[in-house]
Amino acid sequence: MIEMNERVIFSRLLEERLNDIGGSLGQSMFDGALNVMEGNMVKEYDNLGMTYLLNYQTQRLADYLNLSVYSQSYYPFINMAQKYADDASGTSLKPCDEANPVVNILNNRRSIREYSGTPVTFADISSILNGIQNTHEVGEMTFRNTPSGGGLYPVTIYFHANRIEDIDEGVYRYQPSTNSILLIEKNTRDKIKEIYKNQLKIDLDNYCALFMFVFDYVFCFQKYNNLALSLGLIETGMLAQNLELIANSLDLGTCDIGGCDKVKGEELLKIDGMNQHLIYSVIMGSKKNNGGVQV
Ligand SMILES: Cc1cc2nc3c(=O)[nH]c(=O)nc-3n(C[C@H](O)[C@H](O)[C@H](O)COP(=O)(O)O)c2cc1C
Repeated sequence: MIEMNERVIFSRLLEERLNDIGGSLGQSMFDGALNVMEGNMVKEYDNLGMTYLLNYQTQRLADYLNLSVYSQSYYPFINMAQKYADDASGTSLKPCDEANPVVNILNNRRSIREYSGTPVTFADISSILNGIQNTHEVGEMTFRNTPSGGGLYPVTIYFHANRIEDIDEGVYRYQPSTNSILLIEKNTRDKIKEIYKNQLKIDLDNYCALFMFVFDYVFCFQKYNNLALSLGLIETGMLAQNLELIANSLDLGTCDIGGCDKVKGEELLKIDGMNQHLIYSVIMGSKKNNGGVQV
């Protein structure tokens, strides 16, 4: 258990991040944040969000035992029990409209874990990334396709380009403001396999791209305090869902990935693991003729 009493470390990292954001604006934001952290405005429990993130995805022996017992014996019962949870006296609705293209994509989506190996085109990966986070100038503000609490956009999308036409294999960061991708490191296949080695059902050879969602706590901590954590997790889910909608509209298969080696992942992405946290992933590939194995 990592206690977040080391406020000095946190405030140093906060300062670095805010200085990255830029000059006097960063400095004044830092002064404000430091006052808040050192003063009476922040109580011990106000750091719960950071404490949680620092311990997030840290798997202990008990978790592994839990997971194997759980998935082998209880999962099917919990799944099947959902049917009996509904009260029969509810008013029936009409079935959803298949002619609606968004509904149609949702109806046909299943998690796909096996891929043909056919690369995705540069146009398709562009369409997916820009489709999720395309920017729109409104007065002095810039908004994006996927909403964000307070318009702060604390989640950044990184991805491993495994089979993408015209892009070198490696890890990249998507930059919405300029609709561009920045190479972080080339030739990272082995590192990715190590980070996701517990995902035994997923084909880690033939996928096209593996998207990694990084939540930057500092971006919304100052405004939202502990609420920042839930906003970051919710917004990641929204980005992932929009990604899956666009990918499935292009007939690409996707699968969410909740668990990975977070620390090794953060090392690969060259993020600090204090303010910036790798919290979620989605893998995407071309479907096999049989649609790929579904679990
Ligand atoms: C939050 C979340 C985390 C998930 N994590 C994993 C994962 O780590 N590995 C995996 O193979 N599937 C993962 N899945 C996929 C689920 O197993 C899948 O959605 C579920 O079995 C329902 O099947 P469907 O997506 O085909 O409808 C995850 C899904 C969600 C929503």
